[in-house]
Amino acid sequence: MKVLLTGASGFVGRNVAMALAAQGHTVRPVSRRHGIDVSRMRSPADWLPCLNGVDAAVNAVGIIGETPSQRFDQLHAQAPVALFRACEQAGVRRVVQISALGTDETAFSAYHLSKRIADEALVRLDLDGVVLRPSLIYGRGGTSAELFLRVAGLPLIPVLESGQQLLQPVHISDVVATVLRALEEPPPRQALDIVGPERVTYAEWMQTLRAAQGRSRGRMLRLPFGAAMVLCRLGQRLHPLAAPDNLRMLRKGYLACDQAIRQFLGRPLLRAEPHLQFADASILWSQR
Ligand SMILES: NC(=O)c1ccc[n+]([C@@H]2O[C@H](COP(=O)([O-])OP(=O)(O)OC[C@H]3O[C@@H](n4cnc5c(N)ncnc54)[C@H](OP(=O)(O)O)[C@@H]3O)[C@@H](O)[C@H]2O)c1
Repeated sequence: MKVLLTGASGFVGRNVAMALAAQGHTVRPVSRRHGIDVSRMRSPADWLPCLNGVDAAVNAVGIIGETPSQRFDQLHAQAPVALFRACEQAGVRRVVQISALGTDETAFSAYHLSKRIADEALVRLDLDGVVLRPSLIYGRGGTSAELFLRVAGLPLIPVLESGQQLLQPVHISDVVATVLRALEEPPPRQALDIVGPERVTYAEWMQTLRAAQGRSRGRMLRLPFGAAMVLCRLGQRLHPLAAPDNLRMLRKGYLACDQAIRQFLGRPLLRAEPHLQFADASILWSQR
């Protein structure tokens, strides 16, 4: 298969590209690093030339916070909707959209709401479209995964309130395995949550990340919501991850039933063993 892969330079995209290549597929990469700014690709006509000779498309472009030049509505909604419509016009039926856990009817953040526009557009089109909704993804090379590892290594670990917000982290190799499977054999459901087998609190996840780095359990610095919001507003200028909405999303917590993803992959998903924090999707073909 020849696969158009947007976000090919990112954490998910790089790992999907590696796995596709390992299986003998060809990737047509799209990202700014590959010379294409997706924020300018907002009509099907912009995408059609990229789809020549392509059999399938995977959209893995995403941002976790906005900057003046990187806008949710352009990158999460307008550009992917244009891509999906171009796929329909070009007869590229297999399309995988990497969305995020929480883009359902409970979505309130600009991040989730903008992604939901593309998710809903995809399932309305006459395509074998699949929306994959991963929870927090961990593994080697993830920008936020590595930031969390650094935060967990601090002498005092900042947590929101009591740190009891719930997460269901999933390893990058399970996300990649799902993308590959969805390309080969689209699932009966058009939207699939990709969640790990364990539900953990944020505070416990920090301890897991410490243990993975060979550190003893750490002490927590409990931040009241108001104080954390002030810090976020200040930190947002340094890193888009520090957006206030991201704090609100952390506070809400996102969980999902893992039965459908287990059935789809035909196996349990990986438990968060320490070595997996430093492993990428190559474990799919090097160790199993
Ligand atoms: N990582 C997680 O924990 C997680 C969890 C749930 C869902 N997701 C979703 O999964 C997708 C991939 O996430 P990720 O972790 O791989 O993110 P990432 O490492 O930050 O990668 C983002 C990708 O988007 C590309 N991109 C950003 N702005 C672009 C632009 N203007 N034009 C072209 N390409 C652009 C980046 O390439 P350039 O910078 O080279 O342009 C990069 O390839 C996103 O949609 C994200 O929301 C991620």
